[in-house]
Amino acid sequence: METIDDTRKTTAGPKPKRYVIDLTVNGDPRTVVVKGNALLVNVLRDELDLTGTKKGCELGDCGSCTVLLDGTPVDACLVLALEADGSEIVTIEGVAAHGELDRLQAAFVDKAAVQCGYCTPGMILSAKALLAGNPHPTEPEIRAAIAGNLCRCTGYVNIVRAIAAAAEVEAVVEQGGEAR
Ligand code: FES
Ligand code: FES
Repeated sequence: METIDDTRKTTAGPKPKRYVIDLTVNGDPRTVVVKGNALLVNVLRDELDLTGTKKGCELGDCGSCTVLLDGTPVDACLVLALEADGSEIVTIEGVAAHGELDRLQAAFVDKAAVQCGYCTPGMILSAKALLAGNPHPTEPEIRAAIAGNLCRCTGYVNIVRAIAAAAEVEAVVEQGGEAR
């Protein structure tokens, strides 16, 4: 990681150090200059124009900023961009391929698992990580995988159904969210 040590004084004091970091984002190599305290979510949204990653609480509580960091779902509001140097990142923009929705995206549409859509990118990335490691999860495993992703609209029932449909497993979910 290259450091740009800009020691020019301003009226507000010395300028902060900046760092050159290399990321692979949705398969593309990207080089970005960031401050030491820059958050990954802000670098993705503001520097790389990947605004599909949503900001909600900015405290690690809501999961709307979930991205995959070397395959692991993380809250991008809790990760310094510097920490991601050299990593592979997948955002919601990298999920569809060749103009076709990914099976999870298609299942979310098919099962009406999207209402306002604010939680959807994070939900899909958490589900993607789940299915990558566990292609046929049980319903409790699905619920555990999205436990860090809050949805204020759907009540989760159709989201669980959508993930189960994408995984081609049976999820017997009653309205109200209880499994039979
Ligand atoms: S915005 Fe990151 S967890 Fe809520
Ligand atoms: S669809 Fe609105 S927050 Fe989940």
